[in-house]
Amino acid sequence: MPTKNRNSEQHPDLESVMFTEAQIKKRVRELAREIRKVYGGGEFTIISIINGAVMFTADLMREIDNPVRLDCVRISSYGNRTTSVGTPQIVSSLTIDIARRHVLLIDDILDTGKTITLVSGLIMKLGPASLRTCVLLDKVGRRQVPFDADFVGFKIPDKFVIGYGLDFAERYRNLPCIGVLSPRLQNPPEWA
Ligand code: IMP
Ligand code: MG
Repeated sequence: MPTKNRNSEQHPDLESVMFTEAQIKKRVRELAREIRKVYGGGEFTIISIINGAVMFTADLMREIDNPVRLDCVRISSYGNRTTSVGTPQIVSSLTIDIARRHVLLIDDILDTGKTITLVSGLIMKLGPASLRTCVLLDKVGRRQVPFDADFVGFKIPDKFVIGYGLDFAERYRNLPCIGVLSPRLQNPPEWA
């Protein structure tokens, strides 16, 4: 039976595709190797910032054969906007003990830096043995709080991107690629 190539057709709500499913997969594999080099074979605890980092975390974890523990933190989101407003808030915090543990914090995208700074502060208060950060995407030019992640998948320009976990108003997280949201859909009155 013929199989449909999921990247051969672009989603109509995308202005352009930034990274295909295959490009993401390849980079996630490479990141896993970089992470493995740093941690050796030792155990570490992954903390994933949800919902955005779900796909990235799930795929990255499966490329790593170290013993890992997993927990998630939920941070208040942009809502229906494409630009960060106000201060992010912790909606749901950690449930496992991370004292004296090596922690790898994972997020989908580093933008103003506010979210990862907030979560890093929370983690550091709990006395981990170490804290490193990993983001799939880094909008380098948008930083309001200085922050450099230890592991970065792709550096990207200041475009609002969706897919592979990234949403606009909770939609498009299930796209297998990462693309630029069509400007005609940004902040339409019916979604506000
Ligand atoms: P920051 O706190 O401004 O660094 O923003 C980080 C969070 O904003 C990420 O966890 C994403 O949820 C969200 N975000 C930032 N840029 C984008 C984007 O281009 N598309 C979708 N979500 C984004
Ligand atoms: Mg997010």
